Amino acid sequence: MTAQLIDGKAIAQKVRDEAAAEVASRTAAGKPQPTLATVLVGDRTDSAAYVSSKGKACLELGMGSISEHLPADATQEQVDALVKKLNADPKVSGILVQLPMPAHIDEERVLSLISIEKDVDGFSPINIGRLAQKGRKPLFVPCTPYGCIYLLEQAGVKIEGANAVVLGRSNIVGMPAALLLIGKNATVTVCHSRTRDLPAVVRQADILIAAIGKMEMVRGDWIKPGAAVIDVGINEKPDATKKKGYRLVGDVNFEEAVQVAGYITPVPGGVGPMTIAMLMRNTLRAAQIQNP
Ligand code: GUN
Repeated sequence: MTAQLIDGKAIAQKVRDEAAAEVASRTAAGKPQPTLATVLVGDRTDSAAYVSSKGKACLELGMGSISEHLPADATQEQVDALVKKLNADPKVSGILVQLPMPAHIDEERVLSLISIEKDVDGFSPINIGRLAQKGRKPLFVPCTPYGCIYLLEQAGVKIEGANAVVLGRSNIVGMPAALLLIGKNATVTVCHSRTRDLPAVVRQADILIAAIGKMEMVRGDWIKPGAAVIDVGINEKPDATKKKGYRLVGDVNFEEAVQVAGYITPVPGGVGPMTIAMLMRNTLRAAQIQNP
């Protein structure tokens, strides 16, 4: 058996095209241009690359983009003041504070300052709290887990009643992914570094979301035949045949898993493109909330 590939690139493009069409019709109707403000604190090259791709995507979709950059030694007061300024700026629809921030900054405090109508990452305690509660809905769903669920739905994978295993319990992916799956009536197990007999737990999964940050950790014989495998990992594997000296691989051993799974996302071209697509969708939604 060979798994069906879930083409994140094509699905992300569809989400972007839909958002671009809606942006065009809003602006044609004289409504303000949806605009995303990104906040980067410090000089991590990966974070700088992520915020730059997010800004570029905004422009491609006809949205506005504001990039704020503070130095690595910025004070808590400076970061807080910047978020408050963006909260008060009517041109700004959504605010994204790139994580991680330098260790001396209280991340929880910064995220809690973002106005919930502008919290397009969905990381404010109010949004996450609503995601965790029955009968409540967050204004915004965190972009990467939102993308994972969207990929499952587009592939036609039934979530209701499924055994879902989430590998990893990060605030950005694992935990919100588990909450979303519970909200969609899956039976969810969250695994982490101290889970006993991980392969045996993963083998129960009809749906596996791998977001543990360990290169190719999930082996083919951990996977239940026919399972849907969503690989969130992005790891650099040394490869002398590549110009950069490495190639990107996920948290799942793709060559093995593809022989066993029913559906699988490739790396790259699976979950990766979905994060920005969902961020664009959330930014548009923020603009719709602020100017219906
Ligand atoms: N760092 C890694 N992923 C993300 C994300 O989705 N949003 C933010 N703000 N920071 C991140």
